[in-house]
Amino acid sequence: PVLPPPVCVEDYRRLARLRLDQDVWDFIEGGAETERTLGANRRAFERVTLRPRVLVDVSHCDTRTELLGAPLATPVGIAPTAYHRLAHPEGEVATALGAGTAGALYVVSIFASRTLEDIAAAATGPLWLQLYWLRRREVLAALVDRAAAAGFRALVLTVDAPRLGRRHRDARNGFAIGSGISAVNLDAALMASAHRADPGRSALAVHTAEAVDPSVTWSDLAWLRARSSLPLVLKGILTAEDALLAVEHGADAIVVSNHGGRQLDGATASLDALAEVVDAVGADCPVLFDGGVRGGTEVFAALALGARSVLLGRPVLWGLAAAGAAGVAGVLELATEELAHTMALTGRPGLAAVDRSAVVLRKGL
Ligand code: FNR
Repeated sequence: PVLPPPVCVEDYRRLARLRLDQDVWDFIEGGAETERTLGANRRAFERVTLRPRVLVDVSHCDTRTELLGAPLATPVGIAPTAYHRLAHPEGEVATALGAGTAGALYVVSIFASRTLEDIAAAATGPLWLQLYWLRRREVLAALVDRAAAAGFRALVLTVDAPRLGRRHRDARNGFAIGSGISAVNLDAALMASAHRADPGRSALAVHTAEAVDPSVTWSDLAWLRARSSLPLVLKGILTAEDALLAVEHGADAIVVSNHGGRQLDGATASLDALAEVVDAVGADCPVLFDGGVRGGTEVFAALALGARSVLLGRPVLWGLAAAGAAGVAGVLELATEELAHTMALTGRPGLAAVDRSAVVLRKGL
């Protein structure tokens, strides 16, 4: 079928669906276990209502912002997602080009399928590198040095995945990363099990158990800090308690996230954790947000609840699958245009005015 040009982010989902094989689609779309948290991330936004103010000059709505010293055209950014070549042959290079067009932050996954250097060569905006804490610390150390040399501006340690979530779709599909696509920034021996298809099991779950160190604690963060002068961001915080520990241990920013419902099924909707974390850390530590954001109204809601930036996971992969770099830029620009539109209709022409007075979030499940 030929679909009309996308007018909203969800339209890219339909375009992507036509281009991806079922097992890759399931890997992208799926969540852990019953997918209750995956659904909760989306439903939480239905409990947000907006409080518009009127007779404000909204002839210019300014979405420009700044994060860890880098200017950005938009607070909408790209969440780290693995193996972009599953979605498009150019993979992360196309993603970086799309991010550049939109003036957006791009957080590159440790499991990127293009080299850090190629991604950096294509980028025109800030890149951050996401890490899992590998058992082999010397590999982690080398990667961090490479990232700094390539011009990456921050490290994002994902802390919600000491093991991989039980993703039933991937297990049923016996999902493994096909040959020809690989996490090229890590050595082939370290990644081998991610490619070994086994019925009834996700190769990625097997690989994570093998490669990621589940014994890491707060006190280990000092090692990473000492290895690199790049700012350190912790991704996957959902409670005030951990937000305070993050600040205590020197985190430069926090990402409120439940990994798009792919890790702990039953975890709180990401949006429901946001205000709690923002209140705990205060103004000095920027809080980023991801989980279930599919348009500018939802970006607006997260900003109003205190996020400094809002990252998109699956929607970027939809754009990438649908149209490569142009699709990535299309998704980011649509979300940004919708944000500016919501700013105009709520009488908040600048991001500083997008505060809690702009929303009501009802409690819910
Ligand atoms: C992810 N996510 C993720 N997170 C991370 O820290 N490192 C990674 O390599 C990945 N890989 C990954 C792959 C795929 C296919 C998805 C969908 C997600 C989680 C991601 O960064 C983010 O937290 C969620 O995707 C945000 O939710 P939405 O926007 O997808 O609803």
